[in-house]
Amino acid sequence: MQIKIAPSILSADFSRMGEAVELCEKSGADLIHCDVMDGSFVGPITFGGQMVKNIRPRTKLPLDVHLMIEHPQTQIKFFAEAGADIITVHYEACSKISQSYLKDTLELIKSYGVKCGAVVNPDVPVENIFPVFGLCDMVLIMSVFPGYGGQKFIPSAIEKIRLAREYAVNTGKPELDIEVDGGINAQTAGQCVAAGANVLVAGSALFSAPDFASAVKGLRGQ
Ligand code: DX5
Ligand code: ZN
Repeated sequence: MQIKIAPSILSADFSRMGEAVELCEKSGADLIHCDVMDGSFVGPITFGGQMVKNIRPRTKLPLDVHLMIEHPQTQIKFFAEAGADIITVHYEACSKISQSYLKDTLELIKSYGVKCGAVVNPDVPVENIFPVFGLCDMVLIMSVFPGYGGQKFIPSAIEKIRLAREYAVNTGKPELDIEVDGGINAQTAGQCVAAGANVLVAGSALFSAPDFASAVKGLRGQ
């Protein structure tokens, strides 16, 4: 499978976001990963739909919006209309509302013509999102607890990626995008790809690298 690199703009300079997005595209990235935090589901607050709307004209790359927020259904319209290409929502934010909230949210995202995905935190079994794999264009395995860039990779993500790929293959979706997010660098990237991930999010490893394009290649194992 083609490996896709998704720089997380959480690690960019927020006062120069347009330039950051252009750098990602020029350096060979495949997606722009937008980390949306609400100060409740996770401690910090980052940005909302307006940021997505403002960076939309600065790149042709798909915008991959990772919603780390409570009550995600309330925000889908804004991110869809702002130009998100894919929106992912956390299992943990949905399951505390109702049993059908995750499925309903994924269907709501799709109703806007936007791709959708489910996310699991490091302490949640990936099996919990197996029931919605059929609806998902992508699934996201967190390899750190969300909230901050620059954390250390949690190795138990590897087995979850393996299980996710195995389940996708066994249920007739061998090409499902499996994304991993948190602590990804040239070393951990290789382990994740070997386990079956094909979309690699990286913030600090790319934005702190002396050469962004070389760092993108490094994540691809080139
Ligand atoms: C964590 C975010 C990640 C994070 C990745 O809450 O979802 O996307 O920015 O940053 P690094 O690559 O530095 O771990
Ligand atoms: Zn993220």
